[in-house]
Amino acid sequence: MSNYHIKHLEEYYQVYRKSVRNPTAFWEEIAEEHFMWRKKWDNVLSWDFSKPEVKWFEGAKLNITENCIDRHLFTRGDKTAIIFEPNSPDEEALHISYKELHKRVYKFANVLKNNNIKKGDRVCIYLPMIPELAVAVLACARIGAIHSVVFAGFSSNALATRINDCDCKMVITSDGSYRGAKTLDLKSIVDDALENCPDVESVLVAKRINSEINMVDKRDQWLQPLLEEASSDCEPEIMDAEDPLFILYTSGSTGTPKGMVHSTAGYMVYSAYTFKNVFQYREPDVYWCTADIGWITGHSYIVYGPLCNGATTVMFEGVPNYPDFGRFWEIVEKHKVNQFYTAPTAIRALAKEGISHLEKHDLSSLKVLGTVGEPINEEAWHWYDDNVGKKKAPIVDTWWQTETGGIMITPLAFCTPTKPTYATLPFIGIQPALMDADGNELEGNQVDGNLCIKFPWPSMARTIWGNHQRYKDTYFSAYENKYFTGDGALRDEVGYYRITGRVDDVIIVSGHNLGTAPIEDAINEHPAVAESAIVGFPHEIKGNALYGYITLKDTGEGRIHDNLRKEINQLITDQIGPIAKLDKMQFTQGLPKTRSGKIMRRILRKIAEGDTSNLGDTSTLLNPEVVESIIEGKK
Ligand code: WTA
Repeated sequence: MSNYHIKHLEEYYQVYRKSVRNPTAFWEEIAEEHFMWRKKWDNVLSWDFSKPEVKWFEGAKLNITENCIDRHLFTRGDKTAIIFEPNSPDEEALHISYKELHKRVYKFANVLKNNNIKKGDRVCIYLPMIPELAVAVLACARIGAIHSVVFAGFSSNALATRINDCDCKMVITSDGSYRGAKTLDLKSIVDDALENCPDVESVLVAKRINSEINMVDKRDQWLQPLLEEASSDCEPEIMDAEDPLFILYTSGSTGTPKGMVHSTAGYMVYSAYTFKNVFQYREPDVYWCTADIGWITGHSYIVYGPLCNGATTVMFEGVPNYPDFGRFWEIVEKHKVNQFYTAPTAIRALAKEGISHLEKHDLSSLKVLGTVGEPINEEAWHWYDDNVGKKKAPIVDTWWQTETGGIMITPLAFCTPTKPTYATLPFIGIQPALMDADGNELEGNQVDGNLCIKFPWPSMARTIWGNHQRYKDTYFSAYENKYFTGDGALRDEVGYYRITGRVDDVIIVSGHNLGTAPIEDAINEHPAVAESAIVGFPHEIKGNALYGYITLKDTGEGRIHDNLRKEINQLITDQIGPIAKLDKMQFTQGLPKTRSGKIMRRILRKIAEGDTSNLGDTSTLLNPEVVESIIEGKK
């Protein structure tokens, strides 16, 4: 019996047990039956979390684009691979068939080759959600170039940091992007970034908004004419299973972002297998994930997972509130979307607008609803279930991370009974562990602790680009022989998991991970600022918002003046992007510190949340008096 498509709960348990008892036999079978290999592996898995080193399907040869495109040409050539829904509802949607995608990807791959990109080179992709983005990703994979997609909302500084960190030779961008009623000038952001990126040799520019832009001689080229001239034949580069497929940056507790490196074969197998089972995709379903391809959700569940399964995947360029809050539902109706995958922050924003927008549209095509990116609160869960799914479409609350490459804890639609706010059960092959403060694994149910994973899975990141030590320190040092997720979780009486949130200095704002350190670094650049500390506080729509405690210098510069708040937020926007702007700023006399000089964020968090009843013992602080003055100052 094939285990590729699990159809009911008993089968889940049965396959889960098999996957845990004999992981290598299990994954070997999945890999063998459902993917195209140029050569099979010599060894399914070798691993050592103390190094850490993990290898899946070692010795195998493949190209992921043969799995995402070529193998479908015969059976599904005319089937729509990608539905592109533009920002404006007045612009026609585009249906790109597998045959057409094949042509576009191979032409693009040849353009890359003609511009001196070879296997192993890094290519930065800084594009809006237009078809060229998915095509560029696949074109890189076709020739073995490592793509590094940077979300097109990041500032020029953030872009430059990411380009330099992995030494990209090329940047692919567009003249601009549409975002609701606004247009953004992406090319000038790239131009600014490249002033600090001496190693970038070429820039390819897709035309989207037809604006007048600056083209730098010998460096910049328009993409379209190059594509027209390029051949549509392109033999795939034959990759080793463990060759890197892409780098994707995620924020961490310290300054520089972490370039998570994902490898080819394991990532392919796991993203495809999870897609099929979590969403219960069946042909000819239309699947829509509202994320941006600039995030891991878009990589795994707009591009690779769906295409590997020969699915039809929707790519939406716009925003949920343009031209009004009914846009998502209009798209669901128009394309008869069957699986819909979005983030709690979007659900909360839509719920706030009431149900009048929903009532205007026929949502009867919806079979499965998904959520990802942050814990979903009970109210949002019920709103989604009652009004969008009409209690008929199961909600898959999928917990995972950029680092994990694919969904890790989740219901399987129609198999796992759901429970509001619970991500429920581990996916096939995933072995979670909850750890107590002393580093012991908590056995049994009704426990909560720090969430770890104790056995490798195929799509786990293999390293941090250029910094393997940081990979080890961040994920494999807190607990011996375990991957530490940075999240807290509880296990209820039946073994269901509920993710309770980050236990480190990462704050999730509107589903985006923000490290506190890079924001503090940006604020501290202001000449008036002595030091700062950022904490999160609950926000109705964003989940968390940012609260900044800022101490000014004693000198004349350190005055609070009218523009100070604006200037500080501008610095943050310049360094990171508008998503990291502070919602609240409080200027303080000092920050509470331990005797070793560490800022006590726990206390600051409580004050920001407005809960000063139980601040714990403040007498061990170096400067307990500061706490009182901060509480006073907040009022
Ligand atoms: C959080 C996104 C609760 C979590 C795929 C994780 C979640 C971080 C959920 C990773 C969920 C993601 N319930 N929390 N269903 N999904 N998270 O790297 O804190 O952008 O560690 O990957 O988001 O965010 P990232």
